[in-house]
Amino acid sequence: MLDIRNLRLAYSSPDGEPPTPVIDTPDWSVAAGAQVALVGASGSGKTTLLNLIAGIVLPDSGEVRLDNTDITRLNEAHRDRFRADNIGYIFQSVHLLPAFTALENVALGMKFAANRAGTAHALDLLEKVGLRERARYFPRQLSAGQQQRVGIARALANRPKLVLADEPTSALDSRNRDAVLDLMQRLCTDIGAALIVVTHDEAVARRFPTTLHLSDINRVN
Ligand SMILES: Nc1ncnc2c1ncn2[C@@H]1O[C@H](COP(=O)(O)OP(=O)(O)OP(=O)(O)O)[C@@H](O)[C@H]1O
Ligand SMILES: [Mg+2]
Repeated sequence: MLDIRNLRLAYSSPDGEPPTPVIDTPDWSVAAGAQVALVGASGSGKTTLLNLIAGIVLPDSGEVRLDNTDITRLNEAHRDRFRADNIGYIFQSVHLLPAFTALENVALGMKFAANRAGTAHALDLLEKVGLRERARYFPRQLSAGQQQRVGIARALANRPKLVLADEPTSALDSRNRDAVLDLMQRLCTDIGAALIVVTHDEAVARRFPTTLHLSDINRVN
């Protein structure tokens, strides 16, 4: 389902030094519906790799195929559309829009956000993450764990094929961490989405059927 080939990215440095290679991943595939934890130290390129997979950052060379589409070949408008249709992204810091309620945050990215079906679907997702009764709350009125659960609902709203999660539980205590991971895994299983979680935390990685170290797939580290 996800197939990465010969993916390379070097970042130019601010002080005019030669670009520093961050990603050099010759070959990595993730099957439909698989759940994978990818472990790496701070600065090893985890966020960069997720951003490449999501088409938020473009590589210097190589392919990122989701089924038959190489996202690196799409123009910006098509990449945005493709991402919205196929990929859910759960961020380290949740990035909820502060001026919008939990419900609106979930509904905003949806294809039919403006209509009743959109609202009903968003409410249904909030129910699934245990926050139906918080639908009208603003992010500042929610705890960190609750905000992260809204972020999960938002990422799943368009029934993506692939969910990418960047240190999704780093702001949570261990009980909330486990609850959020379980929820994420269960909801991805329900919709048949593959899930890639990047983390530096072995306790997170242990909860996944498949664990890889970034150095297993990335030659830079
Ligand atoms: N826009 C950028 N320009 C230049 N260098 C960058 C840029 N973004 C990231 N880097 C560098 O790329 C390397 C990898 O960064 P990345 O954010 O992918 O690491 P990470 O594994 O997600 O780290 P963390 O666990 O701390 O989030 C770092 O050394 C960083 O300084
Ligand atoms: Mg990171």
